[in-house]
Amino acid sequence: MALSSLKFFSILQFLIIAFSMLSTRLNADDPPLTLDYYASSCPFVFDIVRRVMECEVLSDPRNAALVVRLHMHDCFVQGCDGSVLMDDTVTLKGEKKASQNLQSLKGFRTIDRIKSMVESECPGIVSCADIVTIAARDAVMLVGGPYWDVPVGRKDARTASLELANANLPAADEGLPSIVSKFLYQGLSVTDMVALSGAHTIGMARCQNFRSRIYGDFESTSDRSPMSEIYLSRLRSTCPAAPGSGDNNVSALDYVTPNLFDNSYYQILMTGDGLLNSDQELYSSIFGVETKQLVQCYAVDPLEFFKQFADSMVKMGNITNADSFATGEVRRNCRFVNSLIRSE
Ligand code: HEM
Repeated sequence: MALSSLKFFSILQFLIIAFSMLSTRLNADDPPLTLDYYASSCPFVFDIVRRVMECEVLSDPRNAALVVRLHMHDCFVQGCDGSVLMDDTVTLKGEKKASQNLQSLKGFRTIDRIKSMVESECPGIVSCADIVTIAARDAVMLVGGPYWDVPVGRKDARTASLELANANLPAADEGLPSIVSKFLYQGLSVTDMVALSGAHTIGMARCQNFRSRIYGDFESTSDRSPMSEIYLSRLRSTCPAAPGSGDNNVSALDYVTPNLFDNSYYQILMTGDGLLNSDQELYSSIFGVETKQLVQCYAVDPLEFFKQFADSMVKMGNITNADSFATGEVRRNCRFVNSLIRSE
């Protein structure tokens, strides 16, 4: 297909997705979150979360990345309501088997550890959704990233949605227009999307998610900047071409400073060495005029990146829906609704 008609259809597809998603958006009115929500009911909650996260990150810096991703995957599905933490039961189908979560999303044990410490100090007070949000902020800070104040007061959902998890979570092989529309649906802008993608300055991706990038099977809308040969051959030795072989072998999303939260992720994109197709598209897609400028800005200005990342994390953390406030609870065990725990 000629590039111009490809471009036309992709723009059309983008507009259709964006408008249809915007018309079905969740209620994104300002959520009733405050900084001092637990000031009298659980004054040490922030200290407790910080202490556990310090141990977790000290024992393995990857734990920081796991918790940050967990927070995002929570917020993109019916708002930040701890739904991602729920295990499957006879009566509830959780989100852990969604295509972007299965064998991929981790960090649940870290949240369990924090929750049990918090419960022993102030039982039944602090929601799991708040714990994940605070832990994500601490995770970023503990590996060198920015600090921001975390508004709290979220409720935990009594439901989860596998369908929404499959629909809302962006995938590595999705084109830029479609990913943008998923962020717009959440009330997040293109600037939020590029800044939040900077979370890929830490953590790992599995071969399954970058195979098409390194063997050229991705239908890209990029004027591709090729990956460097040395990096490509290193990735190919980790990730065999045949689907199914080595799917879970991992490589760092930011090979320069994999455990440090800095702006090298954006510098890598400018050399063409983004690990995921979705990463590289931010800089190389023909639809990415705005995203490219933002990548260039954050690559040279780490302070601007930190400031925008912090603001966008607060914004993402504020995604709520009226249901979780009306019908939610503070789960005692993050994996199950309270009614289930009582009846067991
Ligand atoms: C822009 C759209 C995004 C796409 C398409 C995307 C996709 C992915 C994929 C495919 C992985 C690798 C998972 C695996 O192989 O198991 C990953 C890892 C990760 N993502 Fe994203 N992501 C996006 C945005 C975000 C955002 C907004 C955040 C947080 C603010 C985030 C945080 C992370 C982290 C920290 C990891 C590393 C996790 C680990 O070490 O296991 N991502 N992402």
